[in-house]
Amino acid sequence: MRTREERCAMLEKLRTDFIGLDTEYTLANGKKTRRIYLDSTASTLMLGAAHEALEAFYRHYANTHSLLHFPAMIATSEYAWAHDRVLSFLGADPERYACFFTGSGATAGINRMARVFNSYRSNRGVVLVSLMEHHSNDLPHRKHAGKVVHLPLTTHPDGQPGCICLQGLEKTLGEMGDRVNYIAVTGVSNVTGIINPVHDIARLAHRVGALILVDGAQSAAHIPVTMSGHDDPNADLDAFVFSGHKTYVPGSPGVVVCRKDILQAIEPDEVGGGMVDRVFVDRYIVSERFPDREEAGTPNIPGAIALAATLEVFDRIGMDVIHDDETELINFALEKIRAIPEVIVYGESDPDLCPRAASVSFNVSGMDHGLVAAILNDYYNISVRNECFCAHPYVKEMVMDDLLEAADDIDDAEFEKAILLKSGMVRASFGLYNTREDVEALADALGEIIELRDFYRSHYDPADAGMYVHKSFKLAESEHFRVSKFLDGYFR
Ligand code: ALA
Repeated sequence: MRTREERCAMLEKLRTDFIGLDTEYTLANGKKTRRIYLDSTASTLMLGAAHEALEAFYRHYANTHSLLHFPAMIATSEYAWAHDRVLSFLGADPERYACFFTGSGATAGINRMARVFNSYRSNRGVVLVSLMEHHSNDLPHRKHAGKVVHLPLTTHPDGQPGCICLQGLEKTLGEMGDRVNYIAVTGVSNVTGIINPVHDIARLAHRVGALILVDGAQSAAHIPVTMSGHDDPNADLDAFVFSGHKTYVPGSPGVVVCRKDILQAIEPDEVGGGMVDRVFVDRYIVSERFPDREEAGTPNIPGAIALAATLEVFDRIGMDVIHDDETELINFALEKIRAIPEVIVYGESDPDLCPRAASVSFNVSGMDHGLVAAILNDYYNISVRNECFCAHPYVKEMVMDDLLEAADDIDDAEFEKAILLKSGMVRASFGLYNTREDVEALADALGEIIELRDFYRSHYDPADAGMYVHKSFKLAESEHFRVSKFLDGYFR
């Protein structure tokens, strides 16, 4: 067993092992600098160790549905190992839970689980989601699983929303508990980074016979997860879905971990090769084996293996160490950004009241989100995301006051465009490669943007969908990576 000090040293080594940290671009002011990547909540950069493991694996690549040649044996064993790694990473008892890969993000997995839970208990027609969900943990339940009721969030004295309100949940369960099939909540908000008390939610759900599905897209890479084995079994989670591309492995699949007894009770939602034992013209016999029965078709074998390699590295370091390290950085970011009077930080921002992971979203007073994000990119090489982050109801609720204020000054012809320019935020989000220097660079850039706002504004035009474009600057063609150009050298 490694000491905490040894594990912290491993994390330090890991911090620089990501592909693309040193990529440089020339900016609107003519300077060429290293990009500062603050968009990990959208997609994380690739872990070098996983990329190397994958390259080594490609020498043995074969289909897991083939059986008797060496590479097929190797691919099959490593693909099986990838499932085991996920279960162990999420603290899910392999006797009780199955892992399967599906789609390329959490969306496919959540759609799948909505159909599974709906078939499992079609007599319970209500699903509870929270007001802070990403669309991918809201719309699939609306489409596949019945009536969706949105749970309230706590509200703190300054009016900013916090995490899911347990009293509100208890009240809703008191009113409609026997009709609730499941509760689907995010572990961590992709907008504010606020962490939800998922095990408390699980306890309340299970007390009335409801199930719990956690959207772990923003949790898996940032906070320790333990699905089963809690002292109080009601705190265990029934299903957890996450996304490989937000876990430092672009190109890897979405991941579902679910209680086996639920999956076994219904026919797998997807059918095709690999999930059946025998097929006749008039019937077929579905495999009893996990994960085979849940994975029709040839899976994304390399993606799953690279993801599992990353999870193994994380487990060797320990998610406790990773989480503590990130908490320190996000609290530092909150402190620095909140210290700028012109910046409005969204969501409860006292970390003692509402711990956060990964994301901080904000606006600069009097400047549109698209303008700030464009200036951060064009003049400071800081990559952030802006707009509504696929969580429209949550974002709109928080920016509503600004929208109403703006609406008074806008004539009808310009209304739609102007509202898009106002309805959104800027999000800075962090990964293992980010440092206090990156946070300071962001805070310094925001300070300068505020000071020179008229100068910057004069260089931009508003464009469609809430974006801004520079009047004369764009990325140099020589720095624009193009696959076809890259391939020009191939036959030389
Ligand atoms: N939904 C992803 C995000 O929050 C892409 O940015």
